[in-house]
Amino acid sequence: MENAIMHTKDLRKHFGDVAALNGLDLVVPPHVVYGLLGPNGAGKSTTLKILSTLTRPSGGQAVVGGFDVARDPGEVRKVIGLAGQDATLDDKLTARENLRIFGRLSRLGARGARRRADELLERFSLDHAGNRLVGTYSGGMRRRLDLIASLLRAPKVLFLDEPTTGLDVRSRMEIWDTVRELVAEGATVLLTTQYLEEVDQLASTVGVIDHGQLIAEGSPAQLKSRIGSHIDVVVESSDHLASAVSVLESLTGRRPEVDGSRITVAAVDAVPSLPQIVRELDASGAAIRDVGIRQPSLDDVFLSLTGKTVDSEKSLEVQEAVA
Ligand SMILES: Nc1ncnc2c1ncn2[C@@H]1O[C@H](COP(=O)(O)OP(=O)(O)O)[C@@H](O)[C@H]1O
Ligand SMILES: [Mg+2]
Repeated sequence: MENAIMHTKDLRKHFGDVAALNGLDLVVPPHVVYGLLGPNGAGKSTTLKILSTLTRPSGGQAVVGGFDVARDPGEVRKVIGLAGQDATLDDKLTARENLRIFGRLSRLGARGARRRADELLERFSLDHAGNRLVGTYSGGMRRRLDLIASLLRAPKVLFLDEPTTGLDVRSRMEIWDTVRELVAEGATVLLTTQYLEEVDQLASTVGVIDHGQLIAEGSPAQLKSRIGSHIDVVVESSDHLASAVSVLESLTGRRPEVDGSRITVAAVDAVPSLPQIVRELDASGAAIRDVGIRQPSLDDVFLSLTGKTVDSEKSLEVQEAVA
């Protein structure tokens, strides 16, 4: 815990009868991207709101940069930046004007705010559009500007709530590059996302939350290895099922599932190679139509942990709103 840049202990948040957070224990080391994953309503946004002092916890503790969010919210605010889903940019002002206003609100002073706005626009390649009204920006540019606005005070800790939801692939990758750069410079980023590829690409650690609790944690590779690889075999006819099943069972140490002429088994501890599977099936005399091994994706991990797929309805909604 001494090394953590932030942690929560038995964190709770109730909205009337709804327990949004139900004893969340989170430990985030410094200088990493920590990805918070979970189905809709799991408590991700609530966690970010509490850590960024926008909402007070109902119970438990949350500490950011050494300061308790309930006792020292002012100190916490000095070290954090937040890019939320509801951008607060003013469409009728230019990007530069927006940033200057935010800078002054962040107490950078008029000159400091102007200098920092110019610096950030240039650094994150929005200089050319700095004097355009934000109302004319594309969804990707807006989101980038929102991120820049959260960087005005060079935060040590940055909270990003679904920073790329609804963005096209190119804009998404631009945001990823920005996040990587910030972390390389020493920032710590806690982000939520609906895109599992995003945490696969960015996060060194993933925390999966469901019903307001942490249910799994690890690097993307560690989480995937817990699921194991899926081996799929299709036999020529049912006559060959029994021998193929017994080969797969002895190779993986697990009981395969049979559906018609298809046999499926998850290999977790012992993962045989494809040539090895083919050789053994051959030797058993089983006639095979198809063999395949599928590496698990984070989607598989998510599904197996939460019983749900990542919500895609919402991302479509946002996409329309952004378009
Ligand atoms: N201001 C609020 N008032 C009432 N209920 C809320 C409020 N904010 C969140 N909730 C509820 O808390 C739970 C967690 O919400 P949230 O943290 O937004 O989840 P996520 O970001 O993981 O989708 C949900 O059941 C949600 O409906
Ligand atoms: Mg949310």
